[in-house]
Amino acid sequence: MWIPTAHNRLARRGAAAIFAAFGDYEREFQAITRRAKVRFEQRDWHGWQQDALERLELYPRVIARVVGEIRHLLDFSETDKKLWATMKSAYAEVIGSCQDIELAETFFNSVSRRIFTTIGVDPRIEFLFSDFDTPAEAGSVPIYRTHPARGALAELIKQVLTGCEFAAPFEDRDRDAHRVARAINRQLQAVVSAMPIDAIDMIPAVFYRNQGAYLVGRIRSGDQVMPLTLALQHQEGGIVVDAVLLSADEVSIIFSFTRSYFHVEVHRPRDLVAFLKSFMPRKPIAELYIAIGYNKHGKTELYRDLMRHIDQSTDTFDIARGDRGMVMSVFTLPSFDVVFKVIRDRFAFPKTSSRRDVIERYQLVFKHDRAGRLADVQEFEHLTFARDRFSQRLLDELAAEAAESVTIGPRMVEIKHAYVERRMTPLNLYIREAELPAACNAILDYGQAVRDLAATNIFPGDMLLKNFGVTRHGRVVFYDYDELCLVTDCHFRELPAAADESDEFDAEPWFYVGPNDIFPEEFITFMGLGGELRDTFLKAHGDILTAQYWQGIQTRHRAGELLDIIPYPWSRRLSNQ
Ligand SMILES: Nc1ncnc2c1ncn2[C@@H]1O[C@H](COP(=O)(O)OP(=O)(O)O)[C@@H](O)[C@H]1O
Ligand SMILES: [Mg+2]
Repeated sequence: MWIPTAHNRLARRGAAAIFAAFGDYEREFQAITRRAKVRFEQRDWHGWQQDALERLELYPRVIARVVGEIRHLLDFSETDKKLWATMKSAYAEVIGSCQDIELAETFFNSVSRRIFTTIGVDPRIEFLFSDFDTPAEAGSVPIYRTHPARGALAELIKQVLTGCEFAAPFEDRDRDAHRVARAINRQLQAVVSAMPIDAIDMIPAVFYRNQGAYLVGRIRSGDQVMPLTLALQHQEGGIVVDAVLLSADEVSIIFSFTRSYFHVEVHRPRDLVAFLKSFMPRKPIAELYIAIGYNKHGKTELYRDLMRHIDQSTDTFDIARGDRGMVMSVFTLPSFDVVFKVIRDRFAFPKTSSRRDVIERYQLVFKHDRAGRLADVQEFEHLTFARDRFSQRLLDELAAEAAESVTIGPRMVEIKHAYVERRMTPLNLYIREAELPAACNAILDYGQAVRDLAATNIFPGDMLLKNFGVTRHGRVVFYDYDELCLVTDCHFRELPAAADESDEFDAEPWFYVGPNDIFPEEFITFMGLGGELRDTFLKAHGDILTAQYWQGIQTRHRAGELLDIIPYPWSRRLSNQ
């Protein structure tokens, strides 16, 4: 029973303030998200970009504001844990009827962690594991709409397309419905030996990102389910279905941790995530939350996953495979799919950047279009693990080189600051270990990664192969951000011709090199490729080694052109089939 003591009254007011701020966050999040439809209808891609940035900045902005309010309200009791424990119970009561309790819990944790800078987690003042059981999907209203198969498949697809209610016309909806039906039939014959389709379950809300819109769902046929994603584009002649994606791998790549977050209107995120998981079983729940823009809650899920995993496993954290970083000390738990990056106390020569610079570059990546080529990163503070789960050589490295980021106690290791991201195979190792055809493909995709980054105005800075990783889908992704910058901030130059032969062999350049000067001809030397790999790269991507290529990209960016990266192969485009 609630007794109205001063303690309880204050706790209730604190809980109410946090809940009100959560409501503000939700409303603003939804308002920005809703705008995506209009941006798509009006082909307002610059507007989309502003929205994406505004939404990324929303959470920290609201948290900073409510932390200020709470400090003011609680005054001297700000760090009174008993009061916070009562606040937590009061808050749990008010969020009981929310459809997104899990987000509300994470929001509370963000506030309490800001006040306490809690080491590890403290279940008295944080929702460690959710206080609510996941309600069974059955019984509640499904998050998707079922379209039972009656008659021709093309009619069914037409019905799905009509359901979107865009305030812009399709270029030719009938043509696209037929193209989609043909593509599905072709695939069904290959996969489930032409079983009849029973129904299509589609999420009514459209997923928007950059210049694309996606209709996401699944096809049911007997007891089999197959993912179904229709990728729409709004071209000058109207909206078209550009591609249909039917495998878990292809859909997974669209939902990848290397892409910016979708804008999709959803009121019960947990149900949406469960539905997505039904046809992307390998994708962690954390990544699905992150993919729909709830990155803070995704981080909570990742943390919970990690803690559960640590309880159930016995292996030890160790230095990650590959060349050591000059800026980052990188370690991993072999049985868990992520790496932990902590900033070293000192950076080896010739790095001149500071800890602050590194953090700023990671911030830049967070807010920038990641184009399918930059790994998403979760920033953690004050993580603790048992010391006996660390290998001795890792403890030695952390003690010697990352004392600012890590404290090693007699029983526990506290990681004061770490970036956590998906583990990949470093590209330098991959090409050494893979068969030649796979290695050649990776090198081709490495060149494509550099182009995709350039198209979104990102120059990786350090093009060495060891700074790129290969995902389980064989995609090449960049992860070393400390020298990353905008293409438009660089000065790309041709190497001047040597005045006489002796100049060429001087260790120092014989010409002036400015701080932002970049000589693309030199990239090939850094790559260290030989034989067939080198020839493969030069044949497909030789132009990347010219200043002219980069200057051309600069001109397009400066003219305000937005170059979109489609997240599926060109061969999947219906107009190419
Ligand atoms: N996501 C990742 N998956 C696997 N290994 C990684 C990952 N990120 C970094 N590494 C390994 O750690 C090394 C250093 O990381 P990096 O981000 O390049 O930092 P630095 O700026 O110090 O070079 C890389 O060369 C690579 O071997
Ligand atoms: Mg590196």
